[in-house]
Amino acid sequence: MAKVENQMLIIFGASGDLTSRKLIPALFDLYKGKYLPENFVVLGTSRSVLSDQEFRDRVVNNSKYLKERLNSHDEAYVKDFANKIFYTEIGKDYISEYNGLKERITNLNDAHGTDNNFMFYLSTPPSIYENIAKNLAAQELANESQGWKRLIVEKPFGYSYETAKNLNRGLQKYFGEPQIYRIDHYLGKETVQNLLITRFANSIFEPLWNRNYIHHVEITNAETVGVEKRGGYYDKSGALRDMFQNHLLQIISLVVMEPPIDDKAEEIRNEKVKALKSLRIMRDEETLLKNTIRGQYLASDFMGEQVPGYREEEGVDPESTTETYAAVKFYIDNWRWKDVPFYVRTAKRMPTKVTEVVIHFKSPHHHIFSESGIIDKDNKLIIRIQPDEGILIKFGVKVPGQGFKVERANLEFYYSDLSEKNVMNAYERLLLDAMQGDPTLYARADEVEAAWEFVDPILEYWKNGKDVKTYGYSSGVWGPQNADELFDGLYSWRNPGEQLADDPGFCEIH
Ligand code: BG6
Repeated sequence: MAKVENQMLIIFGASGDLTSRKLIPALFDLYKGKYLPENFVVLGTSRSVLSDQEFRDRVVNNSKYLKERLNSHDEAYVKDFANKIFYTEIGKDYISEYNGLKERITNLNDAHGTDNNFMFYLSTPPSIYENIAKNLAAQELANESQGWKRLIVEKPFGYSYETAKNLNRGLQKYFGEPQIYRIDHYLGKETVQNLLITRFANSIFEPLWNRNYIHHVEITNAETVGVEKRGGYYDKSGALRDMFQNHLLQIISLVVMEPPIDDKAEEIRNEKVKALKSLRIMRDEETLLKNTIRGQYLASDFMGEQVPGYREEEGVDPESTTETYAAVKFYIDNWRWKDVPFYVRTAKRMPTKVTEVVIHFKSPHHHIFSESGIIDKDNKLIIRIQPDEGILIKFGVKVPGQGFKVERANLEFYYSDLSEKNVMNAYERLLLDAMQGDPTLYARADEVEAAWEFVDPILEYWKNGKDVKTYGYSSGVWGPQNADELFDGLYSWRNPGEQLADDPGFCEIH
């Protein structure tokens, strides 16, 4: 493991939910795993007025997100962790008053030996990212002449291609690109990283990973939850911006990319950008109409509970057409993927929470057995990102008895069977990588921009195009009724169950 140097993590927007829900628990896990450097300080800052102790109580001692974990440790152990955490208020806004912050950072750095290595984590509204970067630079806090300085930014990274580009240029005025870490928590998931291993560490898959053997690729990202308390944010965002532009296009880039020459961050990121740039951008209305579907969940009885429709959610415009379901069919213009359709969907209030990539292989080109080529029996490689993480291969076997009747059998691998049980959660892994200066699992500026370039025309069409519709679907079903219309021929979405090996149509009655 690369050495983790002494450092200070400065969190902007520290009184927000992300800090107590994700960041501090991830740091606690790193502390438990002995990954933190000898001299390590967390300094939270936001507009709220809190003392160090009040902040420690909020994010550690009384945190509902840490409660269970803390119970299994004695007081001194927890206190030692909490004592690494400090707080200072930023002032009345994030725009102007950085002298106090600078002074606190300098004092803590001197007192705790953090060697002028500072990582700034921006968990504030993106509209003020550039201002924060500017102010940090004005205080010489982006300057690496003594110690390194890194900037981690949370999503959403931009609202469109134009805004993402402006944001990139804005941040790059003050921090160099190698100093900027754009977080995408899906890249912190082991199963997403394993896409690289599946493809490039196995000679049984990669030779087949192209248009000669793959019929189509299907990616599903489904959640059972609705928009919860985030209606205000979500209504301006929608599924395409919230999930597709970032998490799903990151997964897609790993499925699509060419083999990098080695596993260095820049080599992998170069190939990902190339992959994203080869996505065929849909520009004309007819193509967009045919290849995209958006939907919105309606009120219904869901898992024994009456749940509101999207338009009834708090913070949502009662006439909103924002999508909570987005499905897109597209092609990739390069040698490997010519004519292979990709079907990708993401949605809330689906029957189960699941993310999976399904590689559908072509049926054998000459059919010897009369029954072998039928559609639901194609060879599939199912890569389960979550839950019940694993890989499933569906292949044909002979049904015992006379003749040659073919049935599908499963070959399965589950992460839970591995002897190494300590799988880092996404934020833990990503924070540790940034602390070590490894940007492999962070999105580079050009990746983000290429992703927006693909998404922008769809958003524009959904906003202003003619014939655009938002279809309703009852909470708890697999999207609008016409969702399968995207597919060519007799194919349709594989609607997975909760467990990797559940066959489509599998249904649990609660
Ligand atoms: C976030 C989205 O980025 O990812 C949420 O903003 C979504 O709307 C969440 O619920 C899903 O993450 P995960 O890791 O639970 O699949």
